[in-house]
Amino acid sequence: MRARWVVCAVLGLSALSAAHAQPRPDAVPAPALQRPVTFAAQAAPPAGVLVLPLGKAADLAARGAVLDEAARAAVARALTAEDFKYGARKTVSLRGVGPWDRILIVGLGETPDAADYQMAGAVAGRTLATEKTPLTLAAKGLPAAAVTELATGLGIGEYRSDIFQDGRRKAAAPAPATILADAPAEIETAFRTRGRALVDAMAWTRDVSNHPANVVYPESFVASARAQFAGLRGVTFEALDVPAMERLKMGAILGVGRGSARPPRMLIVRYRGAGAPAGGPIVLAGKGITFDSGGISLKDPPNMGAMRMDMSGAASVVGAVLALARAQAPVDVVAIAALAENMPDGAAIRPGDVLTAMNGKTIEIVSTDAEGRLVLADALAYAGAQLQPAAVVDLATLTGAVRTALGDDYAGLFSRHEALAAQLTAAADAVDEPVWRLPLHESYAKDTSSTYADIKNSGGTESGAGAGAGAHFIGEFIGREVPWAHLDIAGVAYGPAGDWKPDGSAGYGVRLLERFVRDWRPIPPAEKK
Ligand code: BES
Ligand code: ZN
Ligand code: MN
Repeated sequence: MRARWVVCAVLGLSALSAAHAQPRPDAVPAPALQRPVTFAAQAAPPAGVLVLPLGKAADLAARGAVLDEAARAAVARALTAEDFKYGARKTVSLRGVGPWDRILIVGLGETPDAADYQMAGAVAGRTLATEKTPLTLAAKGLPAAAVTELATGLGIGEYRSDIFQDGRRKAAAPAPATILADAPAEIETAFRTRGRALVDAMAWTRDVSNHPANVVYPESFVASARAQFAGLRGVTFEALDVPAMERLKMGAILGVGRGSARPPRMLIVRYRGAGAPAGGPIVLAGKGITFDSGGISLKDPPNMGAMRMDMSGAASVVGAVLALARAQAPVDVVAIAALAENMPDGAAIRPGDVLTAMNGKTIEIVSTDAEGRLVLADALAYAGAQLQPAAVVDLATLTGAVRTALGDDYAGLFSRHEALAAQLTAAADAVDEPVWRLPLHESYAKDTSSTYADIKNSGGTESGAGAGAGAHFIGEFIGREVPWAHLDIAGVAYGPAGDWKPDGSAGYGVRLLERFVRDWRPIPPAEKK
């Protein structure tokens, strides 16, 4: 390294770019082109693919008005023959009925709510993502809000993870979708503001999460986010570099970043919309480990590659704020992305080291693989010291233990604040990104009590409640008077292909947090503890 420094100095080259011939931040590709969407009251000449969302047999009469009598009878007969039950996420695909190349029937379930409509749209979007012909979605007779959700779901479901497959991002935009509805102008306005903002933000979150660590690292994450927020009203965008973090004494995130050639960053994006309530911003803090090798406490090789997703929490909090800013929602919200790469190196932190976080607390490192809580320690200390938050919610792929406890269906929710936990649970239920409450027992303090320092970053023997101990640790870096909740998303952030998403990132949390921030009701002081 020293020799190269000398050579670079002699040649007058930048030491950094010569020492590490690594991709520049603009290497994060532009998002895929989406199907253009228009809304209309009248059908164009029938052709291409038709989507029929149906909750029961009787819906075919209204929704199927776009079909002539013979085609409607053929669809009805096919559904009977299939013994189709109209259940949510269920589909029937028919080819060559009447003038249509394909008719896709999507079940809505008996009493669909907003999330069910969005899910039906997403299932259709995913099923038809590679269809080249124009698409018509029949939504006549449905309330405007339901149609907006269908359109939003269609965009969410179209997302594809095949980022590096040749030509995929260079291809022309897919053929357009026309959504047939009773009040097209009203729906179009709702979709153009909120719906499309969510689709785009989720696509960004999933793109950033899916990209490998040689493309997405702290600086390139920041560059990609900066491009997304450029020109949006009400946004302030600040990325703390290493000297700035040193001035703030953020010893915990700096410690995690020390073993990597890619320096850490603390990204702070605030969006304050017109008409936002007073009382301070809602702070959303995300674990942004762009790769988690475990550091000196190196992980076992199998599945280590999945640790490129260890910045999913950061991608989701930034995505949620992006959705709100794009929609110019009347909210005051901050995303903090605590970005670092956890690598083993001569300069890396070791087990036994002691770090000092921004709030002055000393931390004994038991495992360098318990790094997410370290970067979040400084993120939360920063929020408490600088932002006067109304509430703080952190999202992190923090522990394998939460997956053992809850599987892939629920994020673990930890909070000492009942009102905050209730609002998060309501938002999670409304958007179908479920959370399950887990305890923050005072006894977890024993797992993190250190002989030498104020706290230690892991129990060491791992006998206790792993996810709870991690949550407890994070909570020590924000004042008890601040309503705080922690979502451990290690089980839900990414996974295999399903009916609405491809293999890879789920973008978990973007919709949940967007809903939560919009619906936020300030917590009366009496309820704070
Ligand atoms: N990023 C991992 C947690 C993880 C595991 C996320 C599996 C997604 C899938 C985290 O940094 C980690 O290594 N956690 C340790 C904590 C332990 C050292 C206290 C774990 O879960 O084993
Ligand atoms: Zn990690
Ligand atoms: Mn780890």
